[in-house]
Amino acid sequence: MIIAVDGPAASGKGTIARALSRHYNLPHLDTGLLYRAVAATVLRDKLTPEREADAIAACGFEDRLLEDPWLRSDEVGQIASVVSAHALVRAALLQRQRRFAAQPGGAVLDGRDIGTVIAPDAHAKLFVKATPAIRARRRHLELQKQGSPVTYDKVLADIRARDERDAGRANAPMMMAADAAPLDTSFLSIEAAVQRAVELVDARV
Ligand code: C5P
Repeated sequence: MIIAVDGPAASGKGTIARALSRHYNLPHLDTGLLYRAVAATVLRDKLTPEREADAIAACGFEDRLLEDPWLRSDEVGQIASVVSAHALVRAALLQRQRRFAAQPGGAVLDGRDIGTVIAPDAHAKLFVKATPAIRARRRHLELQKQGSPVTYDKVLADIRARDERDAGRANAPMMMAADAAPLDTSFLSIEAAVQRAVELVDARV
């Protein structure tokens, strides 16, 4: 059973994907982390994220970089959404994601193009969304807890900028697959959102 979970930043897709992976006892891949690892390498090696697509696609990274907490920062997330627009970068990460999805027992993958490009034949596809204001509020609270002085307005502006880049790019733009089930988490608790996700998956497999 392959479960594809797509959606924008801070929609709750990561939390939902992890919960589904526990519920169905399937391995989980957060595909955003792969793009974040590329972005971290670009920042470290001082490459230009908007250009140098061949150098960026060829840069590679060690798996242990995926554990680095820096990858989860907004700084890296913004650059990830710039480098992920390059077709060469997407092609370099494609096989790894497809192999993960093709494991014998199945898998849960979350990202932006899982249901459309990586696993178009997934058994269940969810598109998780929430309003930009609510996503910004969630992200802002999280950052405040970590002691960050960033303002809500800045978080909202960053979320909007990332949405625009991710949905507006020519290669594998973020969009809901025609056969995906939408799940709006704007007014749901985490528990309610996960319960709804399980119902939606059960209805499709
Ligand atoms: O999901 P996360 O916020 O970690 O993703 C970081 C960035 O990586 C996204 O803004 C998007 O540009 C890119 N990404 C992508 N395709 C995916 C997953 C993430 O383009 N499947």
